Amino acid sequence: MTLDARQVAEAIGPLSHARSMPAGVYTDPAFFAAEREQVLLAGWIFLARDDQLANTGDFRTFETVGGPVALVRGDDGALRAFANFCRHRGSLLLEGSGNCSRIVCPYHAWGYRIDGRLQHAPDMNDAIEFDKADNGLVEVRLETWAGFVFITYNETAVPLIKTLGDLPQRMQSHRLHEMRCTWTITLETHCNWKLILENAMETYHTGVVHRQSVGAQQSRTLPTVGDWHCIQVTSGRSIATLPGTPPPFDPIAGLDADAQQGTYFAVLHPALQFAIAQDCMWWLSVTPIAHDHSMLEIGGCFPADVIAAEGFAANAAPYYERWEVVGREDVGILEKQQRALGSVAYTPGRLSWRDDQVQAVTAWVLERLPEHVRTGQPAG
Ligand code: FES
Ligand SMILES: [Fe+2]
Repeated sequence: MTLDARQVAEAIGPLSHARSMPAGVYTDPAFFAAEREQVLLAGWIFLARDDQLANTGDFRTFETVGGPVALVRGDDGALRAFANFCRHRGSLLLEGSGNCSRIVCPYHAWGYRIDGRLQHAPDMNDAIEFDKADNGLVEVRLETWAGFVFITYNETAVPLIKTLGDLPQRMQSHRLHEMRCTWTITLETHCNWKLILENAMETYHTGVVHRQSVGAQQSRTLPTVGDWHCIQVTSGRSIATLPGTPPPFDPIAGLDADAQQGTYFAVLHPALQFAIAQDCMWWLSVTPIAHDHSMLEIGGCFPADVIAAEGFAANAAPYYERWEVVGREDVGILEKQQRALGSVAYTPGRLSWRDDQVQAVTAWVLERLPEHVRTGQPAG
């Protein structure tokens, strides 16, 4: 795999001279393999909101860039993430979501407790030095912040809170920990994962791609500390409903002056987006599957007291409609972009000042790849 070193230098250089990334950054399976190892598996992967698994035995399953994972709430109240495979011969254990009191393998019925310990392993009496205590489910490192549950396959990854930098402080007045998830949708997307993140970091396209829905928007870039980037789409009202539908819910009490000015669109590396409005918050979680294939899950959260109030379901419906419509509009344009990036005649085009965070998001990824991947120069 080779990227043109001059093209890479132009893509990460000063914005007034910069061009888009070389096409291989989005189209090359070998580049994707390097990203998977160096960036995606090395970082923190968002799975769910803590409140989506409220009760003992609640479970949800996920396809992650590191394979299938099950998130389970134990008898002790703790959430655990397990690699979702059986310790006998590796069958998938749990599927979908639900509640269970035990985890029984669908192949030969090994049974596990919901804390991962192996409880039953039939007909293993002849296996010398087979100890059930050594054959529990494989746990994956898990950390949470403000109700967001993340895992990492990297035992030496820095704590989640460190990667968040000043994000918690910036979003403090939204009291995200008091929010609950009320809706999710998953969109299959035939494009590279970074195109989805780049798209979230500019309002250059909104008046075109979303002319029938949210329409033209203006945004400003905010300085950040940590592994995140942020723009704020400026608007005195929440933009989490379409322009023709005034938001039914009041702004969150006590929002700071900055937060009152609009909606934060953030990318938390490697592959999570937040959209945090004056009255609610949304996550857009990208699961990269291949260089040209990703899954996008959109989840919506409102403050717990808003959800508890009468009429919530009817009032929330226009929000769900807005995020689905806009999400599908974005997926449509990104699939067109991915197809065209495959042209052998493609050359990177110039960037606008409105593309500053498009550039920043993918430059962050490139910086974390070994030099020979970035530049096509031999390793060493
Ligand atoms: S693979 Fe699970 S019991 Fe055999
Ligand atoms: Fe968009």
